[in-house]
Amino acid sequence: MAAPGAADRVEAGCGATEPSHPACGDSKRPQFGTRFLTDPREVFQHNAWDNVEWTDEQEAAAKKKVLENSQPLPPEKQEEYDSRANEYWNDFYTIHENRFFKDRHWLFTEFPELAPQCGLHQEPSADASATELLQEDSADQKQCTQLASLSLSDGEFPGSSATYRILEVGCGVGNTVFPILKTNNDPGLFVYCCDFSSTAVELVKTNPEYDPGRCFAFVHDLSDVEADYPVPDGTLDVVVLIFVLSALHPDKMQASISRLARLLKPGGVMLLRDYGRYDMAQLRFKKGRCLSENFYVRGDGTRVYFFTQDELHELFAGAGLEKVQSLVDRRLQVNRGKQLTMYRVWIQCKYRKAPCLPPDTTRNSSHRRGR
Ligand SMILES: C[S@@+](CC[C@H](N)C(=O)[O-])C[C@H]1O[C@@H](n2cnc3c(N)ncnc32)[C@H](O)[C@@H]1O
Repeated sequence: MAAPGAADRVEAGCGATEPSHPACGDSKRPQFGTRFLTDPREVFQHNAWDNVEWTDEQEAAAKKKVLENSQPLPPEKQEEYDSRANEYWNDFYTIHENRFFKDRHWLFTEFPELAPQCGLHQEPSADASATELLQEDSADQKQCTQLASLSLSDGEFPGSSATYRILEVGCGVGNTVFPILKTNNDPGLFVYCCDFSSTAVELVKTNPEYDPGRCFAFVHDLSDVEADYPVPDGTLDVVVLIFVLSALHPDKMQASISRLARLLKPGGVMLLRDYGRYDMAQLRFKKGRCLSENFYVRGDGTRVYFFTQDELHELFAGAGLEKVQSLVDRRLQVNRGKQLTMYRVWIQCKYRKAPCLPPDTTRNSSHRRGR
């Protein structure tokens, strides 16, 4: 099995083959690309095809393949992979350091919330109403933010004077954090990032682009819901989870997401991109790698889960968040040299904490209703 970083090079498909872009990005690039395979004979003419449809036969074959390898490893093995999870990731980063660093320029097309002042919002699309919804609420949010900051205790925290706070959880070597710092020039921005691998966090902190005046990296285990974050509840505008929730034991996912949801301001958003069910990486697992349904351990001891949209919805809704967007990105990647086709499946979603209503809204609306 390929090392996770190697898989990540492929899995970060949105950005794998695209040219780099200047700060603030290419606002014209449509979400998920536009290269559609209409004639199967042309499959090897490009490196990737967007939004591929799966046939019923293909779906059934994937299901069968997964079933063939669904015998779980014994409990003591499971326990070991769980209790030593951060050590396996430390080993991974010790070996690979930041060789898998990649500048994900797709980030700002898919997640304009990471640099809102750059005006990277999409051309009108199914997602546009969601984006508008977020914008409409920004006035309310401002008022809520003021209320939230007033209710904080006197204690200062890193970035306490910031006006826009983003936290990336499971940041690895900073594939998301550094592009945000580079692209989002809002003077009120502060970026937090954490990972339970101390090796990864050290690599972030020693990166020449790490600016302690705008960023705070720390070691933190997402699944340890009792552990404190360096920010008070209700203070974050955005929480980003990119290929990290899938690394958690499924039993720990709900509590972890609920804990993160508490950190969001009213109106704040959680952004996720992660593995989807029947992604090529899932179908490649051989027997003896399954931990539980759709959850596997790689050869280097790191683990990965493959989600459906419904499962993610349950997790976010269970944390009291409301859906803004949920998409499946199905991409056909092609190795033209080896004449190989690889069907990738990623899920991308945005969930929001309800904006708090300005204090007199309820009175006004009941007043209006009464008229
Ligand atoms: C596949 S890598 C993705 C890294 C980064 N988000 C990226 O996209 O480049 C998964 C990351 O999640 C981290 N991770 C896994 N479980 C974690 C946990 N319980 N708490 C915090 N970080 C975790 C790993 O150390 C690793 O850096």
